[in-house]
Amino acid sequence: MTLILGIESTCDETGCAVVKNGSEILSNVVASQVELHKVYGGVVPELACRQHVDMIIPVIDQAIKDAGVTLDDIDIISVAKGPGLIGALLIGLNAAKALSFAINKPFIGINHVEAHLYAAMMGHLDTITFPSLGVVISGGHTFLLHISDVGKYQAIGTTVDDAIGEAFDKVAKILGLPYPGGPAIESLAKSGDPHHYPFKSGTIKGRPLNFSFSGLKTSVLYTIKGQGASKHSPLIINDDEKRHVAASFQNTAFTDIVKKVSLALEQHDFQSVFFGGGVSNNSAIRDMVEQENIGIPVFWPPRELTQDNAAMIAGLAYHYRSNLPEGDPLDLEPMTRIPSFHCP
Ligand code: KG4
Ligand code: ZN
Repeated sequence: MTLILGIESTCDETGCAVVKNGSEILSNVVASQVELHKVYGGVVPELACRQHVDMIIPVIDQAIKDAGVTLDDIDIISVAKGPGLIGALLIGLNAAKALSFAINKPFIGINHVEAHLYAAMMGHLDTITFPSLGVVISGGHTFLLHISDVGKYQAIGTTVDDAIGEAFDKVAKILGLPYPGGPAIESLAKSGDPHHYPFKSGTIKGRPLNFSFSGLKTSVLYTIKGQGASKHSPLIINDDEKRHVAASFQNTAFTDIVKKVSLALEQHDFQSVFFGGGVSNNSAIRDMVEQENIGIPVFWPPRELTQDNAAMIAGLAYHYRSNLPEGDPLDLEPMTRIPSFHCP
């Protein structure tokens, strides 16, 4: 049996979890900072860091307590090493290093984006057959990945500009919706007509599996504030039209994702599909994928694992336990960006 403690602090959630053998979640504590940042309409990095400093020890204590274990029982300490906000990463990373040093247990740095995808895999490890298609739809990343095994990925599509979650957040902001933008758009879209506005997602010449959401975002801006407007210009639409904008934007963005997922399935012999990242919390994309009748198993993370959490970090670390990096692990530096799709 291997018990792994995971720490997550890449953005605005402080998390700690204890996971047994890569999939059995004994505890998963998340201290969200949503209320703190809401008033500013987005994450304020300096405030996020201060909150991580305040929360990291209580969250670790609570995760140990909830799991019904002691620190002595932990075999490995893992932490999200990036990508994320530099100050936020440093707090989780240094807490993990200190813990690893204090209890004399090995320490592993984990790629946060890869962990988002692992959130959908962790309950199905006994039945997965590879190769699989990984679909990362998150705040900072949009990827289609060829997965030949846990830890073995090749990017086959990515965004050339905004990530899908970033597009949701920016459109929400120009619509005057509260942060975080994704859930606010999903909720407003429920009472809107998804075909009211003929928005279009971007296509990239010669690279059919790549994404572009920046043009879509600009069309939304011009529709709701007028041609050539800036994001600070006033809205020129009423509340009913706002609902249609949210619904049409969401429908356009998700239709594009589903279309490219279907194309990737035509081009490769995938056995299953895994979705991951904050946007995979959205019911509209889950329904759209279901209606597509893909013909192979499709896995989504449980709702509580779609948002940032440390269970996905501790779970994934299990697969790297026999592959610890050479040299002094305490030298590991945070990685605010991890070039293309790079795994530990
Ligand atoms: O995966 P994540 O933690 O981001 C990164 O790790 O980069 O997810 C955060 C993103 C935000 O952009 C947020 O607006 C979006 O996920 N999100 C959603 C929903 N819930 C969260 N987007 C659309 N619909 C939702 N229900
Ligand atoms: Zn995340």
